[in-house]
Amino acid sequence: MRRPFIAGNWKMNLDRAAAIALAEGLVKHSEGKVGVDLAVCPPSVYLDAVGRVIAGSKIALGAQNVYHEANGAYTGEISVAMLQDLGCKYVILGHSERRHVLGETDAAINKKVHAALKGGLVPIVCVGELLEEREASKTLEVIRRQFDGSLAGVSEAQMKTLVIAYEPVWAIGTGKVATPAQAEEVHLDLRKILQERYNKGVAEAVRIQYGGSVKPDNAAELLAQPDIDGALVGGASLKVDQFLGIAAGAPK
Ligand code: 13P
Repeated sequence: MRRPFIAGNWKMNLDRAAAIALAEGLVKHSEGKVGVDLAVCPPSVYLDAVGRVIAGSKIALGAQNVYHEANGAYTGEISVAMLQDLGCKYVILGHSERRHVLGETDAAINKKVHAALKGGLVPIVCVGELLEEREASKTLEVIRRQFDGSLAGVSEAQMKTLVIAYEPVWAIGTGKVATPAQAEEVHLDLRKILQERYNKGVAEAVRIQYGGSVKPDNAAELLAQPDIDGALVGGASLKVDQFLGIAAGAPK
């Protein structure tokens, strides 16, 4: 049985005071929430402050990116050890905004995945197709290419610990959510890829989140799908009631 996992990707939003206030609200109102794993991924400059607020609560800390090298002359980059120093458990890798706005390649993402796994962070690896790729019936092809490129060389034991997020690019920040059937179809494809590349045990163990305009009013139906194990939430993770409303939609 895969435990539902709801993570908030705050992206490049909020200021320090708002980030702390959001974290405080989440801690206060998430007490007693059982049966679901929760995480927040603030901007890197607020990881320390937010980490202090959520320490000891049921909310885990995640980062939105990391660099694959351990240390050295990499101006502006942040290492796995630095994120761990701040109490991070998770790191989002290969988000579509990093792929499509910042030009990150599968090869670069793959290096980050290995660095994170080696250092003990849990990667949340994002895959997802553009609208034109979906319209050209290339969704599965894109997902396979991103899976094979971003996750090359990941061992069976490592794969079982990792989280995959399916985020169709056309549904991110657009209010245009994939229907539960559209999302479930791709999640099932991802599970088939896991079975082909690894085995049934791995396919059954890996948690696959859906991301793209998840809101409290559509979460329950998405999360009720057999292969959707959680949500990676953008806009709605910036409001306590919305984020926890989504978590409340997870099957018990
Ligand atoms: P929205 O929930 O704002 O569509 O963002 C989804 C996302 O990109 C989460 O990583």
